[in-house]
Amino acid sequence: MFIGNVEIKGYAALAPMAGVADRAFRELCRDFGAAYVVTEMVSAKGVSYNSSKSTELMEVSDRERPAGVQIFGCEPETMAEAAVTAMQFKPEIIDINMGCPAPKVSGNGCGSALMKNPKLCGEIVKAVSNAVNVPVTVKIRKGWDDNSVNAVEVAKICEENGAKAVAVHGRTRSQQYQGKADWNIIREVKQAVSIPVIGNGDILTAEDAQRMYEETGCDLVMIGRGSYGNPFIFREIAARMEGSEYQPPSLEEKMRIMLEHIRLITGLSEKCEELAMHEARKHAAWYMNGYYGSAKFRGRCYQLSSYAEAEALAEEFIELQRSRGIN
Ligand SMILES: Cc1cc2nc3c(=O)[nH]c(=O)nc-3n(C[C@H](O)[C@H](O)[C@H](O)COP(=O)(O)O)c2cc1C
Repeated sequence: MFIGNVEIKGYAALAPMAGVADRAFRELCRDFGAAYVVTEMVSAKGVSYNSSKSTELMEVSDRERPAGVQIFGCEPETMAEAAVTAMQFKPEIIDINMGCPAPKVSGNGCGSALMKNPKLCGEIVKAVSNAVNVPVTVKIRKGWDDNSVNAVEVAKICEENGAKAVAVHGRTRSQQYQGKADWNIIREVKQAVSIPVIGNGDILTAEDAQRMYEETGCDLVMIGRGSYGNPFIFREIAARMEGSEYQPPSLEEKMRIMLEHIRLITGLSEKCEELAMHEARKHAAWYMNGYYGSAKFRGRCYQLSSYAEAEALAEEFIELQRSRGIN
């Protein structure tokens, strides 16, 4: 599959997730076969104010390519300028956020609020597409609320104005992350546009991924929360789609990858180890989900303040599972 001239190999992309899909996690997910990855959303306004935090979020490493930088904002010019700034990190794709429900984003007319103004969506896509020489994609929701389901209209306008792919999260803004994602809307968008459609929402297993392909006809699926503590999901989806045998990760592999993940986080962070560990804590807890005594260990993950402590905790966790005959 191609997004513009960028070849996308693999079966599932990693969704942009602020506070979760940072460079460390994106690199890891690519290692496990994510088709492409997208940065956490970056404020175009922040970029225009020269916020170093905003530009840092745009950094893309070679290990994660192909990668998109996602920007949010509601002024075509500011968005175009932010896209130009992003190009210093040579992303393969620029992605436009039209789905964020957070009040601090949508309350300012950005993110999902853009869907209330399809004409403006088109203007933003056009301005950004004209400003950069890489494909521009958009990520939309089903609509603003149940009374304004307009993903098809917005996707078409984006396509007409130069978008090279559209990712559709099958929930309205009002739903936030609650309820079930509506995959029918993904199928409807797929039938209405010629650019690739990336289906998103509620894929937690490889089986879900395959079902989304079958039920919606989408060109690629995108995984958000299903990747929490589970970068292995990309490997699992590839095996299922290719009909090859899948060997789930052993507990030891999970802990090894958890520790590698933590090393990536602390290694890439500008912060001291103790502060960087704050970023790592939730990830560590997710890797330990679903085992004997997980709740207690997850609590302990939230106290971790060094890599050495994480290593010791992983060993203790493995010992406990072994004592219960779990590998
Ligand atoms: C913690 C978190 C952060 C998110 N941040 C972003 C973001 O920065 N940009 C974006 O377009 N979507 C963001 N999303 C939405 C996801 O990309 C995705 O559309 C949503 O989680 C549904 O997919 P899922 O059911 O596979 O999780 C975020 C979701 C979560 C849970």
